[in-house]
This record gives sequence, C-alpha cells and structure tokens, in this order.
Amino acid sequence: MLIDKMTSYEFKKAMFLYSGALREMNTKIQIINEEFALKQKTNPIEHIKSRLKTPESIIAKLVRRGYQPTFENALKYVDDIAGIRIICAFTKDIYILADIINSQSDITVLRVKDYIANPKENGYRSYHMLVDVPVFMSDEMSKARVEIQIRTIAMDFWASLEHKMRYKFESQIPENLNFDLLECAEIVSYLDEKMLLLNNEIEKYKV
Ligand code: GTP
Ligand code: MG
Repeated sequence: MLIDKMTSYEFKKAMFLYSGALREMNTKIQIINEEFALKQKTNPIEHIKSRLKTPESIIAKLVRRGYQPTFENALKYVDDIAGIRIICAFTKDIYILADIINSQSDITVLRVKDYIANPKENGYRSYHMLVDVPVFMSDEMSKARVEIQIRTIAMDFWASLEHKMRYKFESQIPENLNFDLLECAEIVSYLDEKMLLLNNEIEKYKV
C-alpha cells in the first residue's frame, strides 16, 4: 500500500524526482517567457501554476480508477503527480509554447491531447502534454513525468467554474447547468477568437 511506503526512502526519492522535474520545467518555461520579453515580443505567458499531487490525492485517484493504491500503481497510472498549468492570453501562444517545449532536446513528449482542436463533450478546452523531464543528481540521471496544461485565461476561467460545479454536485451536474456550461464554453471559444483578431489589429499599429 502507498500509505505504508510513504515514509520509505523509495517513496521520498520518487517525490523528490517529481519535484525536481517540476522545478526544471518551471525554469524552462520562465526562461522562454523572459527571452520573449528580451526580444521585445509580447510575453506569451500570463502566469504559471505548478503543484505536486499530495499522497492523499494520488490514493484517491487510483481508487477512483479501480486500481490498488500501491506505490507501483501510482508511478504507473498517475500521470499528473507533477503538474504545470500555463495560462496564455491568446490561443496562438499555446501552440507557439507547445512547439518550443516539443523542440527541446532533453524533453521527451510522451503524449499530447489537444482539447482545443477537439474539445471534450462538456466543452472543456486546453492543450495537454505529458513529458519526461531529466533530473540530474550527484551520480545518476532519472526521468520524471510532468503533465503540462496550456490554456487561455478564458479557458482557465471556464475550467475553474466547471471544476467547482463538478465538485459541488459530486460529478452529477444537473442537466440545465450542463447545458449552460456548454454554452459558456462556446462563448469562451468565440471570445478567444475575437480577442485574437482584435490583438492582430492592434499589432499592426505597433510603433
Ligand atoms: P485524468 O484522470 O483526469 O488525469 O484524465 P486523463 O488521464 O485522461 O487526462 P486528461 O489529459 O484528459 O486530463 C488531465 C487533467 O486535465 C485533469 O486532471 C484535469 O486537471 C484537466 N481536465 C481534463 N478534463 C477536464 C474537464 O472536463 N474539466 C476540467 N475543469 N478539467 C479537466
Ligand atoms: Mg491524467
């Protein structure tokens, strides 16, 4: 059981690796953002949030998915022990960032889910990447998985409300609210498109 292992060296080392990978990824993203500023291009990133999943939340996820809450299953089945969320102003920035991350030679992209091109049935939009990040220690190198979610401010606004609703209604969101939520997702998508067009117009007038 994961609970029994939580004080073990093995568990502490795994969490240490995830935490290291998360910090490496955070630094990489900050460097990209600062380089954009240096080149006097507008920053593609509004803000970055990162978090390490708590053991309780890892156990809850395994149980929810029907797996035994063991240490081995946590490493195998929980992809988002280390998670980073990057919030951009515009949809185009999401793809620019994803391309840059993809092109870094030490990062291995394990999986991509483009919920912007293919939104979820409930209207959820976001660009997800699962990557392997190397962590260099005194005498070895290990890789740890980091889940990256890239979305616009508007998509993030929607996702927070949807998350709150799902939590409140324990995943049984009433039909009428689901409908409104889907409508909001469409408005979000329309807003993102309009704002991007507007921004393109503004850019033309840049001195
Ligand atoms: P999870 O079991 O949720 O990790 O799903 P998955 O392994 O199929 O991965 P996916 O890329 O679909 O989702 C990963 C993460 O994206 C979730 O843990 C959430 O943080 C976020 N996410 C995915 N779908 C939704 C959604 O419908 N609403 C909100 N608010 N967040 C979502
Ligand atoms: Mg997942």
